[in-house]
Amino acid sequence: MRKINIGIIGLGTIGEGLFRIINSQKSSIRKKFNIEINIIKVCDLDYKLAKKLKIEKKLFTNNYNQIVEDPKIDCVVELIGGTTIAKTIADKTLKFNKHFVTANKALIAMHGNTLSRVATKKNLHLMYEASVGGGIPLLNSIKESIIINEIKSFHGILNGTCNYILSLMAEGKEFNSALSEAQKLGFAEADPTLDINGYDTAHKVCVMAQECFGYSPNIKKIHIEGIEKINKIDLDVAKELNCKIKLIGKGKIKGKDLSLSVNPMLLKKDNPLFNVENEFNAVLIDSKNLGPIMKYGYGAGMLPTASAVITDLIRLNTDISSKAMQISKKYNLLNINDSKSRFYIRFFVVNKSGYLAKITSKFAKYKINIEKIIQNPHIANLKKVPVVITTKKSKFSELDKLLSEVHKSGLTSKESIMIPFEE
Ligand code: HSE
Repeated sequence: MRKINIGIIGLGTIGEGLFRIINSQKSSIRKKFNIEINIIKVCDLDYKLAKKLKIEKKLFTNNYNQIVEDPKIDCVVELIGGTTIAKTIADKTLKFNKHFVTANKALIAMHGNTLSRVATKKNLHLMYEASVGGGIPLLNSIKESIIINEIKSFHGILNGTCNYILSLMAEGKEFNSALSEAQKLGFAEADPTLDINGYDTAHKVCVMAQECFGYSPNIKKIHIEGIEKINKIDLDVAKELNCKIKLIGKGKIKGKDLSLSVNPMLLKKDNPLFNVENEFNAVLIDSKNLGPIMKYGYGAGMLPTASAVITDLIRLNTDISSKAMQISKKYNLLNINDSKSRFYIRFFVVNKSGYLAKITSKFAKYKINIEKIIQNPHIANLKKVPVVITTKKSKFSELDKLLSEVHKSGLTSKESIMIPFEE
């Protein structure tokens, strides 16, 4: 029987779930895996949360050093998030020769490569299954099997909060009330700005790029857009076009070129991600030999995410080298400006004769081929009316220039949006 003594830092949603699962399933984990997971100490800012979980005072500390420095502890589980204190905890954990398990995508996106090198050198595990896709068995199955094949691309709905908001808005809910529901249900970040502005997805895209392509990107070089500008009108028009709008994080390689991006996209019915609704996450991975596969499940929440942390703890007795992050590839990271797609563009156009003609003349100027124009008639008595233009395949940079020119001209309000079709 192998014993693992752990210290948990952070008793928030995931910490609580971890505590509950270990306590309730200790004997079944022992039977199934021949491993006993013992919680030696837990740390949080104050005793309140520990008290709620009936954790004895002697198991509790508010000083994480008492966990990272405790010689009885083999593995530190960091569940506080962020990249400042969490980074110090990670460094110290490895310094004190302990394994490090985390759900922290921002930490792994920014420092995973460095931490992994230190851990491997010291024959320690750095594990982070819960950092992408919440409870979905994703990163370890990439490391253990999918990576055997050459991964060509991944496309994912990687943020439950955004997917929940977009799903509810498509049914008529307002943005803010959908967001507060997501917060109440516990899958929004402590600061939901990170969910909404696409940065949570971007951290996950960085981690996926490390796992799938062996490339550690600089997040500042990735095109990141969130869902702030999506209006209910966009979801209605998307429906008319037999599409849905989803926030997609993706990575794709073509020879030596790599594209990484986070932005809302229009998905058609035949896209496997089309039916992924509410807080669910899903990732589509395309690789040589295997072809496309999709992983689907809860991307957030107390018990699913805690379950992913436990799978890391169980894997602690496997070979280190098979688990270490393999960063070795150099790619030419493509700029979104050079990408081409069909686009959905929505303007709020001044409701006067000739304004639409002036806008479409800009499309002619930039040689952008219009496919469809939709103006919603029942709201056409407003001072500014929503007008949607879909285009044939066009270059991102040209449309971007067109949009700024239209804004400057005063023909529309400044809230226009351009969304690529995923095809
Ligand atoms: N805030 C994240 C989400 C959960 O909404 O998906 C954990 O990454």
